[in-house]
Amino acid sequence: MNPNTLVETGFRITEDADLSRRNSFRVPARAQWLVEVDDARALPEIFALGAVQRSPLLVLGEGSNILFTRDWPGVALMPRMRGIQSVADGGDASRVRVAAGESWNDFVLWSLGKGLAGLENLALIPGNVGAAPIQNIGAYGVEVRDFIAVVEAFDRANGKLVRLDSRECAFGYRDSLFKREPDRFVVTAVEFALPHRHELVLDYAGVREELATMKIDVPSHAAVAEAVMRLRLRKLPKPGEIGNAGSFFKNPIVPAAEANALWRECAALPFWPGTGGQCKLSAAWLVESCGFKGQREGDAGVSDRHALVLVNHGAATGVQVWALAQRIMDAVAARFGVRLEPEPRIV
Ligand code: FAD
Ligand code: EPU
Repeated sequence: MNPNTLVETGFRITEDADLSRRNSFRVPARAQWLVEVDDARALPEIFALGAVQRSPLLVLGEGSNILFTRDWPGVALMPRMRGIQSVADGGDASRVRVAAGESWNDFVLWSLGKGLAGLENLALIPGNVGAAPIQNIGAYGVEVRDFIAVVEAFDRANGKLVRLDSRECAFGYRDSLFKREPDRFVVTAVEFALPHRHELVLDYAGVREELATMKIDVPSHAAVAEAVMRLRLRKLPKPGEIGNAGSFFKNPIVPAAEANALWRECAALPFWPGTGGQCKLSAAWLVESCGFKGQREGDAGVSDRHALVLVNHGAATGVQVWALAQRIMDAVAARFGVRLEPEPRIV
């Protein structure tokens, strides 16, 4: 046990904690206090502590969507509550309540093992269940909002545990109420509504081809998860081997007229028509077209496998990664008139 750690019922506090192994970019950072919470019922007591009330708060999951550019001068609070419970089985779908500290991918595999469908396209996304609603994680044509019934959270605005239904969470593309009001809510558990049968989503580029390579003609939900995992392992660098946070930029959403004008100039630019006269552009293509793919500035770089993934080749600091990200944003804006937005939280 770390001599700087104080153990209380339901939580542990460590002073001057090292976060360099607790962020997937593997950049150096420390927190003045690290509070690891094993029981959500301890949250009111934690937030009543004077030191916690006086300090800025950062809720930290697995750190796979955060870039630290400095030490955290306050409390980094890690929800580590565990447990998966079936709370209701309503014929067509099951309600499953999952504590925030469970691993997302372990839960996806658990659900498929129980014959529950829906999450197969979201296999192998790093991080915890509690972080999944924050940016409404998505991949291969599916977003988690379609399967979230209720988010349970501690609301610091009124010091109470609250239950928010999916509509109240105001989910959008890589967006939610929680992302817009950072650190107001500590998500403690998520209740999912998972169907027993669900139409497979196979249209995202590469999924059908991967299933064909696996020689699967009539795929099960588990086979789709397997295909997605194979694609992801091939396309994205593994954080265990090279520090990264997945896509560093969101795919920009622009008015259709602007997308059309761009497309007339660069016919190869991939884009996806959306609702309300909006269009989503491929940020990866914009970054690659500016010549950044595989580039390196010291130990901060852009992956040579995927132009949207910024990487730490070893000893990069968050400041260096962020400086490179800003150069990319400026270059894309100068060439295409589109301002990229970072996806991870920049601390
Ligand atoms: P963290 O990185 O620790 O936190 C992310 C944000 O959520 C922070 O703002 C934090 O304050 C907040 N937060 C975390 N937990 C809680 C909580 N319990 N209560 C309140 N706030 C909280 N994302 C996708 O959507 N799709 C992908 O396909 C995808 N692929 C990825 C691939 C790689 C290789 C990597 C490294 C990342 C990828 N990501 C992807 C991003 C990341 O996996 C998700 O954003 C994930 O949900 C982050 O989980 P985490 O536990 O690591 O959260
Ligand atoms: N492309 C390039 N260069 C590259 C890579 C891709 O030009 O180096 C172009 C290709 O034309 C490709 C298109 O970009 O067809 C889209 O690429 P990809 O299918 O890899 O998807 P993405 O838009 O880059 C998004 C999500 C990922 C998610 C994948 C799969 C965002 C910001 N990213 O990436 O999510 O896994 O789709 O659904 O929406 C994450 O959020 O961290 C993340 C990894």
